[in-house]
Amino acid sequence: MKALVLAGGLGTRLRPLTHTMPKQLIPVANKPVLHYGLRAIKDADITDVGIVVDGHDDHVRRAIGNGSAFGLNVSYIPQDAPSGLAHCVLIAREFLGDADFVMYLGDNIVMDGIVALRDDFLTRRPAAMVMTGKVLNPTDFGIAEVDTADRIVRLEEKPKVPRSDLAVIGAYAFSPAIHQAVRSVTPNWRHEREITDALTWLIDHGFDVNAHPVSGYWKDAGRIDDLLDCNREVLGTIQRAVHGNVGEGSELIGPVVVETGASVLASRIVGPAIIGADASVVRSTVGPCTSIGPDCEVMDTTIENSILLTGASLRGVRGISASVIGRSARVHARSAPERRLILGDDSKMLIEP
Ligand code: TTP
Repeated sequence: MKALVLAGGLGTRLRPLTHTMPKQLIPVANKPVLHYGLRAIKDADITDVGIVVDGHDDHVRRAIGNGSAFGLNVSYIPQDAPSGLAHCVLIAREFLGDADFVMYLGDNIVMDGIVALRDDFLTRRPAAMVMTGKVLNPTDFGIAEVDTADRIVRLEEKPKVPRSDLAVIGAYAFSPAIHQAVRSVTPNWRHEREITDALTWLIDHGFDVNAHPVSGYWKDAGRIDDLLDCNREVLGTIQRAVHGNVGEGSELIGPVVVETGASVLASRIVGPAIIGADASVVRSTVGPCTSIGPDCEVMDTTIENSILLTGASLRGVRGISASVIGRSARVHARSAPERRLILGDDSKMLIEP
């Protein structure tokens, strides 16, 4: 079996972060989202991985390289423009050959991994198998209607009147039958070839398309609130580990990771939380549910339920919550009454009047 990982796309819902980095490299618990998918693929003993990337951006290629750090053999499939999930399969034809494959959305976290999906697919051998999860808001998802044997009888994108609460989520398993299906799909009004249409083509042509329901945690980290939710969930699995320096007068409560070279002085870290390599936390309260990236500076600040990317700096700011702060961004308090702001395109800042 091979794996196809989708790491292109526009990531519009994560702007401004995605102006300068692909969303699949945004960190969750200080590791790029994409790492979780690659690890799940490795855990399923799949080593040949094709990653679809934005053909005009080499961030993913530079971050993952040939995949040897993950025990994978990675090749890249550049996509000129985000033309849909079915288009990704179309352009990966040469890489995929006639192998069965798992398709994994590179901005998704599936906590229980894909071993069960792989095994279910290899046992039941449908033309396609779709991971599904129950959701409370089916009108926001691609929704599968299934029969009693978990065969999908109908799929609908964001239905106004949902026929079930089973959403199609981040991973699929395909036999080579999918290639004919994706060739038959015509682009929608956004010029995207949708995988739902390819699956519907299979169903309409008498192929078996099965659901593989999962009950563990999964999330599409495509929006800020979902990214923070993933961060909380992954941090919820960490164990205390202190490799950096925790000075006297500091207190670590619960599961806290202090990475190598980090220093915590006169501060309170409430787990779950991670303080990244070479970061410094001084006279501050951090956490719970907070990831401080490498080389960050947090001084005279209180922050919870947030993510700081590499090199971000907070000084003298209280009450930061549910925030994501980009690489080398600074938020510094000033005593002068005026407010000086240097904010990138699409930045969001909520301030008291
Ligand atoms: P989406 O999150 O559906 O697409 P997007 O990145 O364009 O998101 P947004 O609405 O915020 O602009 O894509 C799911 C995954 O598939 C994600 O990892 C990006 C990837 N993808 C591609 O690689 N190529 C594509 O053509 C599309 C549409 C998505």
